[in-house]
Amino acid sequence: MKEESNTGMFGMRNTPATATAEGEQVSAETGAVGSPLANRHIARHINGIPRSGIRDFFDIVQSKPNVISLGVGEPDFVTPWHIREAAIYALERGKTSYTSNLGLPKLREALSEYVLENFGVAYDSSNQILITVGVSEALDIALRAVINPGDEVIYHEPCYVSYSPSIVMAHGVARPVACTAENEFSVTAEAIEQAVTPKSKVLVLNFPTNPTGGTMTGVELEKIAAIAKKHDLLIITDEVYSELTFEGEHTSIAALDGMRERTVFLHGFSKAFAMTGFRIGYACGPAEIIEAMMRIHQYSMLCASIVSQEAAYEAVKYGSPDTAEMRDQYGIRRNLIVKALNEMGLSCHLPRGSFYAFPNVTSTGLSSKEFAIRLLEQENVACVPGSAFGASGEGFLRCCFATALDKIESAMERMNHFVNSRLD
Ligand SMILES: Cc1ncc(COP(=O)(O)O)c(C=O)c1O
Repeated sequence: MKEESNTGMFGMRNTPATATAEGEQVSAETGAVGSPLANRHIARHINGIPRSGIRDFFDIVQSKPNVISLGVGEPDFVTPWHIREAAIYALERGKTSYTSNLGLPKLREALSEYVLENFGVAYDSSNQILITVGVSEALDIALRAVINPGDEVIYHEPCYVSYSPSIVMAHGVARPVACTAENEFSVTAEAIEQAVTPKSKVLVLNFPTNPTGGTMTGVELEKIAAIAKKHDLLIITDEVYSELTFEGEHTSIAALDGMRERTVFLHGFSKAFAMTGFRIGYACGPAEIIEAMMRIHQYSMLCASIVSQEAAYEAVKYGSPDTAEMRDQYGIRRNLIVKALNEMGLSCHLPRGSFYAFPNVTSTGLSSKEFAIRLLEQENVACVPGSAFGASGEGFLRCCFATALDKIESAMERMNHFVNSRLD
């Protein structure tokens, strides 16, 4: 397998580019120089953003036979039939038009009820909910709507690979706060407060967390809310794994006293309803912010696909039993994978949410990238190195357990073989 190129096999951190005397762009991470064409035509801040190495890597994985992938963070379940049928039925009825920029009124109304019932936060469907093309678009336009150039955005790390690039694309400054395995990758209010500067504007939260499965206690969340108020921070909360919480109640920061007014609540259908390919999500928040986001959405996306909106309506109205069933399955798989990882000497906390296990691989003497590459080469098992999710992910490996039990079992046997060969 090829060593890391300047786009980076796993190099998805945003490392700013600097210019040489000749005006060429040099990546701070790789020292690579951009082509004259790129330097002339591509915006500087975009030149500095590496491609997502996960995708590059899994293109390689797909071309290799007999690989068990615990890599891409995607449910192995196909979208429940009644949701697919709603999409088909929408097409049959000729639903092929644009919708309102905000999204179908019936979907916004259904989401207003769903969010109130499941998260305890009330949003007005007429002006506080915007249907987006996944949480991805919602995050992008939320950041673009609120950030002025140079504003700092704090987020906990290891984190989803999009956060840092999305902040940079919005001309903000990314300020990661490292989380640790000792805290099972929840973030402390103290660590957040230490990262606050006069330029801090936004705090991005994601619990349960990709890639660690980290969750938060209500007490710590309250402390974070107090810090947000004290320093006048706006919260963007990415709730995409909320329904995949195994133990205890999930609380969104938006539900805490006085937080609804300073929180943009992002959610989607990809994970809980196994609808990644539908590309559908939503944002809820104060009307002024949703209006600002809607203006960006209106001129860039116009609206989310009507077919996906019809499917999402079916999911939000009638899909919760499917979510519960899938969560039960993920719970069984989680217990199996975490036990196997610990038994082979890779210490791994029990993730209380999401579908990721995040074992520590330092006992093998390999970096997380070396571990992932050799595991793929020698045992045909694909996982993502923790370093892909930020510097604080180094030494760990993300293993997605949204995969059939027998495949997880085989992957663990192969990994055990690999680890034992390292430790012999
Ligand atoms: C934390 C997190 N947020 C957002 C997304 C993207 O979600 P969507 O498919 O709704 O765009 C992902 C996908 O893996 C994720 O892990």
